[in-house]
Amino acid sequence: MSFLGIDLGTSGLRALLVDADGRPIGASERHYSVSHPNPGWSEQDPADWINALEEAVAELRTTYPEFSGLNGIGVAGHMHGATLLDAAGDVLRPCILWNDARSYVQASRLDAMDQVRALSGNIVFPGFTAPKLEWVRENEPEIFSKVHKVLLPAAYLNYYLTGDFVADMSDSAGTSWLNVGKRDWSDHLLDVGHMRRDQMPRLVEGAEAAADLRPALRSGWGLSGKVIVAGGAGDNAAAACGMGALDGGQGFVSVGTSGVILAARDGYRPAPETAVHTFCHAVPGRWYQMGVMLSATDSLNWLARIVGKSPSELTAAMGDTLQGPGSVRFLPYLSGERTPHNDSEIQGSITGVFTDTSVEDLTRGVLEGVAFALRDCFDALTAQDAKMDQLIAIGGGTKSRYWLRLISTVLNVPLQLPKSGEFGAALGAARLGMSASTRAPMDSIITPPSICETIDPDPTLLETFGEAHRAFAAAYPAIKRIQ
Ligand code: XUL
Repeated sequence: MSFLGIDLGTSGLRALLVDADGRPIGASERHYSVSHPNPGWSEQDPADWINALEEAVAELRTTYPEFSGLNGIGVAGHMHGATLLDAAGDVLRPCILWNDARSYVQASRLDAMDQVRALSGNIVFPGFTAPKLEWVRENEPEIFSKVHKVLLPAAYLNYYLTGDFVADMSDSAGTSWLNVGKRDWSDHLLDVGHMRRDQMPRLVEGAEAAADLRPALRSGWGLSGKVIVAGGAGDNAAAACGMGALDGGQGFVSVGTSGVILAARDGYRPAPETAVHTFCHAVPGRWYQMGVMLSATDSLNWLARIVGKSPSELTAAMGDTLQGPGSVRFLPYLSGERTPHNDSEIQGSITGVFTDTSVEDLTRGVLEGVAFALRDCFDALTAQDAKMDQLIAIGGGTKSRYWLRLISTVLNVPLQLPKSGEFGAALGAARLGMSASTRAPMDSIITPPSICETIDPDPTLLETFGEAHRAFAAAYPAIKRIQ
């Protein structure tokens, strides 16, 4: 018996095969790119996701004989993306991604409408799905008129895997079309967004069976038994399942393309008057809250690109010993910002640069800017009474010791490193596939990971980083005035 977790990320797709006890057997990864046809735009071709999936599966099949005993699949995807399909099931245009800011006018219009925040439980951010469809309606009416279904990236993979239009609650919560408290599409939200219920996929819980793997894929992948595909999840809910974060007091910091601080909550407590996100969890009857900053490793990748080095070269040059705040102040608003500002027009900036400023100084500034923005997210969550005495740390950015120590100190919270850290969302997705196919009790599958190390805040630097964070936070209104 084995299960497959697929994490459709922004920079690449990872497929993780786990055994009957949920232990990783092996993983395979393929990368693809994001296109930015205009400033602030961010798109991907769904065909790249399918190629990545097929290649990753082919590698798993040939490397691990256990693949032939596959029983269940779960898909996690980067959230909010609009994949538009026509009546034949063909993709109408590139998927508009979560960090695309083009629909800020449409977002603020929807956001101001009666009952919209109350029903969706959230601000309508430009990155969410409903304003994207409004943008398409206004700017690409011919495409809009052909829209038969709108699928989030994970639901598009579900469609490829099963032939069925089916999405889970956690991902659907980020569309601004879902009544997040009731876990159902809202006719009012669909109406104001000029959409219809029949254009939406069928809803299931993430840990429930969505449909069977298509016979053509089953035989193409050399599988003989029945394979269940779970509802799946948005990548953050999936990572929470991978980290066993289901109850209040449990949470994580994710340093990926985006930076996320997620706190599981006991019950539904929306805070749509703030930029905290409140979404359904991937398991029934649960919700979580998170603060999202849009450019975490994306900021480091940007610096790496312009100085002609790799991100790991840049972080390696920092060494392991945390230094106090440097003179370079970096505001990481390369794609605007969600939590706490909800501002898609703000730009990134660098100040505190002198004639002798080095690449290392810039790197230090970028790592600090991202850590400060994570602190903003953390503060927004604690203002909602989320309890986060320690956080599990996941995502590509956690490969840097320096960054981990910095984030721990800036948040003043111990960071726990899971043994299976590199598999956050993929592991959660595999667990959802396992749950849907075996129907074993959720609590026995979605468990906290073993921790291999805890990174503690540096007590000697708490105060200076506290001050530096206050200066960072004060720079936002100043920047607003200049704009
Ligand atoms: C969450 C969000 C990002 C994406 C990409 O609201 O937009 O975290 O899911 O990972």
